[in-house]
Amino acid sequence: MNAAVNLTNDELYSQVKQGPLPGHVAIIMDGNGRWAEKLGLPRIKGHHAGMESVREVVTLCADLKLQALTLYAFSAENWRRPGPEVSALMTLLQTYLKKEVDTMMDNDIRFRTIGRLDELPAAARKWVQKTVDTTAGNRGMILNLALSYGGRVELTDAVKKIAESVRDGRLDVEEINEELISNTLDTAGLPDPDLMIRTSGEHRISNFLLWQLAYSELYFTNVLWPDFRRRDMLLAIRDYQKRERRFGRITQQLATTVSSVGGGER
Ligand code: FPP
Repeated sequence: MNAAVNLTNDELYSQVKQGPLPGHVAIIMDGNGRWAEKLGLPRIKGHHAGMESVREVVTLCADLKLQALTLYAFSAENWRRPGPEVSALMTLLQTYLKKEVDTMMDNDIRFRTIGRLDELPAAARKWVQKTVDTTAGNRGMILNLALSYGGRVELTDAVKKIAESVRDGRLDVEEINEELISNTLDTAGLPDPDLMIRTSGEHRISNFLLWQLAYSELYFTNVLWPDFRRRDMLLAIRDYQKRERRFGRITQQLATTVSSVGGGER
């Protein structure tokens, strides 16, 4: 059990601040619907409450000066949900961006997205672009929203791009390596996540960052996303800080080696 659960919020925050902090955290925000259903509310109320969790977690991560936070806001598979829920989620996205752009500016947050943005309704796309443009000069944490995102589609698109470069004579097959693949994905320029969190008790990756999560520490909690607030995020990071990341090496090597991913190690 995580001993940090007995700490006060201030004690927990100060322990977390002492590090080591993850550079990039990715979150599957799950459980909005169940949260609402438990209270006898329509599912969309769960998404509304989930937006408040987003606000708390984003502000905390920016304060901790993480390099990047990626949130799985809408998957490629989420289009299969009932039409009214999809429309409500698209409206909520716009509400979030309109409301939170000032918070992003105050916290030096740069906003970007991954996923097939062209599949979003025009109004949502407009607000996404506006937020990207408004925050483009910020140099603090990157807030990366996964929208109409699927890991397999992302990989398929990358394979097509690389194949086209080979076909057109711009690339030799021998030049294809892990770095090139990483740089061809939607997440190009972002470090791989150090920590991936999934709420609501599900233990699945659900087509999220399939390539990028290769060496991430995984943290699963039963807390439903609308209940996942600042303290829960601190507990997740504290848990991460207790882990030993070996990247294929053995414990005794770690004191003398700078941790790095590579070489197909496990
Ligand atoms: C998963 O819960 C959540 C989503 C599909 C949407 C995520 C949206 C938010 C957290 C709110 C808005 C946030 C932004 C950034 C605009 P679920 O509906 O699958 O829950 P369930 O598994 O209990 O049904």
